[in-house]
Amino acid sequence: MNAQFITIEGLEGVGKTTQAEVLCHWLESRSIPYIRTREPGGTEIAEHIRTVVLSHHEEKMDPMTELLLVFAARQQHVETKIKPALRAGKWVVSDRFTDATYAYQGGGRQLDKAIIRELELFVLKDFQPDLTLWFDCDAELGLSRARARGELDRIETEAIDFFNRCRSAYTERQAENALRFIRLDASATINDVSKQLISELEKRYG
Ligand code: TMP
Repeated sequence: MNAQFITIEGLEGVGKTTQAEVLCHWLESRSIPYIRTREPGGTEIAEHIRTVVLSHHEEKMDPMTELLLVFAARQQHVETKIKPALRAGKWVVSDRFTDATYAYQGGGRQLDKAIIRELELFVLKDFQPDLTLWFDCDAELGLSRARARGELDRIETEAIDFFNRCRSAYTERQAENALRFIRLDASATINDVSKQLISELEKRYG
């Protein structure tokens, strides 16, 4: 089997980081070589862009600026890190990818999906994740967990309606990409979510 590109999606506070660790342990237990990365970010330049996207600024960031920044970071990330790793036979586990753009800039910021699609085609051509694990739970539940972690970044300070729109956009993405896009119930206990995750992995790759 070719090296797989697996992405992890979901709102803030849904436990993506913990479940990414479970996924990485599963890969290790099968001696599958992999790299773990994230968006926006994952390379030196893309991490600089991440800082611009997530930090607080005196001036308001125009939504289209935000959209172009996440795609600029993605271009750098895909070309210099993700594709080379896959070519070298390493699986890639990325905390977020283009589905997050449809969710946050499309759903949250209400930018035209057709523009996102055009940028996606321009930057990625037909490059897509092989599997997307979407950890889904009520936006309020996730946000309360994120708030408990401490200081909030620029996006985390958005109102609950913003995150409800992001969640609806993820729901839409799943319906449109049902083969690669798997919903996991993140309102369950950490253990139960991990079990759902492992069972999906076994089903596909076991
Ligand atoms: P996180 O990786 O800690 O969840 O933070 C990343 C934030 O960036 C999160 O609020 C989602 C947001 N984001 C976008 O708005 N658009 C994107 O395309 C990506 C990848 C992330």
